Amino acid sequence: MKDLTPSRDSLEPIEIASIDEIRSLQLERMKWSLRHAYENVPMYRSRFDEQGVHPDDLKTLADLANFPFTYKDDLRQNYPFGLFAVPREKIVRLHASSGTTGKPTVVGYTKNDIDMWASMVARSLRASGTKPGDVAHIAYGYGLFTGGLGAHYGAEKLGCTVVPVSGGMTERQVMLIQDFKPTTIMVTPSYMLNILEQFHKAGIDPRESSLEVGIFGAEPWTNSMREEIETAFDMHAVDIYGLSEILGPGVANECVETKDGLHIWEDNFYPEIIDPETGEVLPDGEMGELVFTTLTKEGLPIIRYRTRDLTRLMPGTARSMRRMEKVTGRSDDMIILRGVNVFPTQIEEQVLTLDTLAPYFQIELSKDGNMDAMKVLVEAAPNASSDDERAASAKTLSQKIKDTIGISVLTTVGEPGSVERSQGKARRVIDLRPKG
Ligand code: DLL
Repeated sequence: MKDLTPSRDSLEPIEIASIDEIRSLQLERMKWSLRHAYENVPMYRSRFDEQGVHPDDLKTLADLANFPFTYKDDLRQNYPFGLFAVPREKIVRLHASSGTTGKPTVVGYTKNDIDMWASMVARSLRASGTKPGDVAHIAYGYGLFTGGLGAHYGAEKLGCTVVPVSGGMTERQVMLIQDFKPTTIMVTPSYMLNILEQFHKAGIDPRESSLEVGIFGAEPWTNSMREEIETAFDMHAVDIYGLSEILGPGVANECVETKDGLHIWEDNFYPEIIDPETGEVLPDGEMGELVFTTLTKEGLPIIRYRTRDLTRLMPGTARSMRRMEKVTGRSDDMIILRGVNVFPTQIEEQVLTLDTLAPYFQIELSKDGNMDAMKVLVEAAPNASSDDERAASAKTLSQKIKDTIGISVLTTVGEPGSVERSQGKARRVIDLRPKG
């Protein structure tokens, strides 16, 4: 793999500023953001009033703990534009969650917000080793989802030649990679596996492709998956994190030279880790739920947003700003199986330890009497797909899951191609349990 470490002088001064400098900028911006939300968004005004707090009460960053949380449901309750802090005409872009049930959650950006977003994605690309003049292939979905357009504007801002492919039509993706020779690809890790498969089908060696770095996010993925993809393509795989309510992609990104967690772009987003049960703020280093406050956003300022993502904060390394550990689970994705908490990423890790399995999997949950039962659906690697080999792999995988996670699951190893392929965010869990 090529050394893609960006030169020190290509970084923005704030990325390598002193902690004191960063904290003082955050305090100044946090005061502005609380006031902006309080003065322009009725929900924040009434919440703050009810809790007996006022933006003037914030004297230090730690005082943020006295302010109320914001939840996804608050965006739904105020659908579509009720939380905007500027007149609707000042909003130049809307995005929305796909919303599997009911109304989607809508977010809006002013011109300045879009500029800030593009700058944060450009910074993320630079941290990933992408340079001005590089060709960037963007296979995150374009549209109401923030992935495609968010990545797009950042890549343009950095000065890349952008290929706005969006998701889907995998054969064409491979053709364009062969013909346009991008060095950077931005896509969900699960869809990258789909592209990898297409390389093999087309008889093209992925290690010979022009790709030097993949910037993967929008869903949890493990370090084992990083190794899988880095080896298959002979390229770097770095993690990009974000969520629509706070920005979209570009809230935090790994640095290609260290790959040791994601630096949070703290000049625009203030992170806290809380105990999800009590809401109490936990010290850096402890695992808990990630909470974000926007520091500069005009259109949709968000105070103490409960992301439901589980991680911990760590000191900066390649940059001054703090890092968050790779998010390997959301509290929503946690499966409780006979008292044991399981995240789909734990299954991913085990699937990836076996060469006889392809890297695709789904989890099926059902009821076995009163108990929940879990079935892991995987498929054989093309060179290990006889009936006997599949039966042996199933047995080994069940045993590994039992030994490492401590749960008994049924494992089905299907023919190559039998597990659903991801087109964007992978659907990891199929819940067949009766509702209610
Ligand atoms: O997924 C924004 C995004 C697009 C991020 C492209 C990165 C790349 P939402 O659809 O609102 O926004 O989903 C946000 O996805 O709360 C996490 O649970 C999950 N997520 C996003 N990035 C990562 C990541 C976009 N790198 C939700 N690792 C978040 C793990 C991630 N989970």
